[in-house]
Amino acid sequence: MSQLELRDVVKHYSSGPEAVRAVDGVSLTIDEGELIALFGPSGSGKTTLLLLAAGLDVPDSGSIHFGDRDIGAMDELESARWRRREVGFVLQAFHLMSHSSALDNAMIKLPADGLTLREARARTTGWLERVGLGSRIQYAANQLSTGERQRVAIARALVSEPGLLLADEPTGNLDSERTHEILALLRDVCHERRIPGLLVTHDAEAVGFVDRVLTLRDGRLVEGLPAKPGAVRA
Ligand SMILES: Nc1ncnc2c1ncn2[C@@H]1O[C@H](COP(=O)(O)OP(=O)(O)OP(=O)(O)O)[C@@H](O)[C@H]1O
Ligand SMILES: [Mg+2]
Repeated sequence: MSQLELRDVVKHYSSGPEAVRAVDGVSLTIDEGELIALFGPSGSGKTTLLLLAAGLDVPDSGSIHFGDRDIGAMDELESARWRRREVGFVLQAFHLMSHSSALDNAMIKLPADGLTLREARARTTGWLERVGLGSRIQYAANQLSTGERQRVAIARALVSEPGLLLADEPTGNLDSERTHEILALLRDVCHERRIPGLLVTHDAEAVGFVDRVLTLRDGRLVEGLPAKPGAVRA
């Protein structure tokens, strides 16, 4: 198992007239078995930070290590292999194949080697059951509600039993009962498997399920919840 370590990470975007410092000097260590909730207003850099941690984008300066691996220094192929093996990423937009079943969508992240199809199906079915979709396994994604699709995306991130969990508003479309179940599941996965987890959320209830709470403001990290009352729901 490995920890995730970001040191002085900076990421600018310069598509408009002025450069945006989306991530502005972030240093953060997430320990093995630690789940962090990351709050922050819309546009504060949360998704950018997750993409950097997943190696899907490269910092302008600073470093990101997962254990002894330098994420920013990998070439594309190495980075893709590392992601497939180690990273469970719940994306803010779920990107499911709309005509494929919940099972096929969730199974897609399993490495092709190592498991028979029967084993892959059994493992994926187990994760779909854990996110409460045991009765929807054969439904096509376009026959599922938004919250159900979100839960398929969560199962997809967990089937490969990743070494790092990154989740971008994974409970954004769920009612409070499902939100509790999913937050408890993500916490249990991090604690039981001793993996670091970074959970981007607007949901104040997440505070009760995580080990540490941080807030991003204009690309900079501060401890705790947003200062202004009500600022949790940006
Ligand atoms: N590919 C890009 N090109 C240019 N600017 C970008 C790009 N991606 C993000 N940004 C800018 O970087 C800033 C941070 O964006 P980011 O998506 O990380 O915010 P966020 O905190 O995830 O917001 P939300 O809560 O709305 O998802 C924003 O000002 C955004 O406009
Ligand atoms: Mg975002």
